[in-house]
Amino acid sequence: MTPCGMRLRELVLLYVFLAIVTAANGLFDFLKPRVATPSAATAGIKNVVVFGASGGVGQLVCQQSIAQGLKVQAVTRNIASASVFAPLAGCTFVEADARDPSTLMQALQGMDAVVISIGTTAFPTSKWEDGKNNPQIACVDTVRNILDALDEMSSNAKKKGKGKKGAGTCKRVVLLSSIGVDRAKDFPFVILNLYGVLSAKKESETLLLERSLASNGRYEAVVVRPGRLVGAPFTNFDLAKLLGKTNEGTASRGVVLSKNDDLAGDCERGDVALAVTKILKSERLRKPQTVFSIINEVGATPNDDEWDEKFASVEV
Ligand SMILES: NC(=O)c1ccc[n+]([C@@H]2O[C@H](COP(=O)([O-])OP(=O)(O)OC[C@H]3O[C@@H](n4cnc5c(N)ncnc54)[C@H](OP(=O)(O)O)[C@@H]3O)[C@@H](O)[C@H]2O)c1
Repeated sequence: MTPCGMRLRELVLLYVFLAIVTAANGLFDFLKPRVATPSAATAGIKNVVVFGASGGVGQLVCQQSIAQGLKVQAVTRNIASASVFAPLAGCTFVEADARDPSTLMQALQGMDAVVISIGTTAFPTSKWEDGKNNPQIACVDTVRNILDALDEMSSNAKKKGKGKKGAGTCKRVVLLSSIGVDRAKDFPFVILNLYGVLSAKKESETLLLERSLASNGRYEAVVVRPGRLVGAPFTNFDLAKLLGKTNEGTASRGVVLSKNDDLAGDCERGDVALAVTKILKSERLRKPQTVFSIINEVGATPNDDEWDEKFASVEV
């Protein structure tokens, strides 16, 4: 088969996959991105750096974290283009490419928490930059470089006699992964993983979990595995965007969390961002490692107590 024929077949398979997921989940019932209400809880986190801040989830994490009273440093490879996004108003910006370790220290310095929402497309697009930012590089190498930089900062601080959990030392790392990482051989994830994006996400999870254990309590790792992302901001190829769907005028929705990779469905970018912001503020998730999947369900937006219960249910 010609390369062109193969690309066509994969695109058809992708559409079939999207159509199945769509039908199964009553898609296009989009809702307004949510802005978190300030919470009383605090995990001692005041300064947060967001990698992938210009992305769909990243923008909303920044916006909601600011609404929660956190100081947010937005990382982008191009400040000129990222700074036009309205949800990033109020952030300070740092230009860094997580493929380049030499750019990372300035982004991480003085930060209490790190959110890694870096991503690329599951199938080859211009975002792969001719292979220079493919899933393996964008999802694994970047995470390794960030964790290496955190370790280096910690050993530099030790040399200067500074405490292991002092102000401005990273205490929590939140990594955006995906549902399906443990089911990459099963339909429909096997299609999504044709170019290895789920395998790369799994590898990045393993890296973070191993490194947080090795940090001896210096920082906690929280891995968030969203279902297929829907809703604005549309930053990637998206069936909903193609159909001109917006999230205006729709009803409230709930979220379901699971500590196993056993959920199937969609998750609004706004709800993933809300979960991340709650993680940053939560006194829970103090175990070295927490991993959970998240999708939407019919229901009401959780209040702070309900988020607390949901986090308790996924703590190991
Ligand atoms: N799409 C889905 O259905 C889905 C499902 C489950 C999980 N996820 C995951 O959820 C997260 C958020 O997804 P999203 O759709 O909001 O992401 P997105 O819009 O594609 O944004 C990804 C961001 O990553 C940044 N980035 C890419 N390469 C980078 C690099 N080498 N160094 C630093 N930053 C880099 C880009 O920022 P700059 O260009 O400004 O540098 C971009 O804004 C991602 O981790 C994604 O893999 C997605």
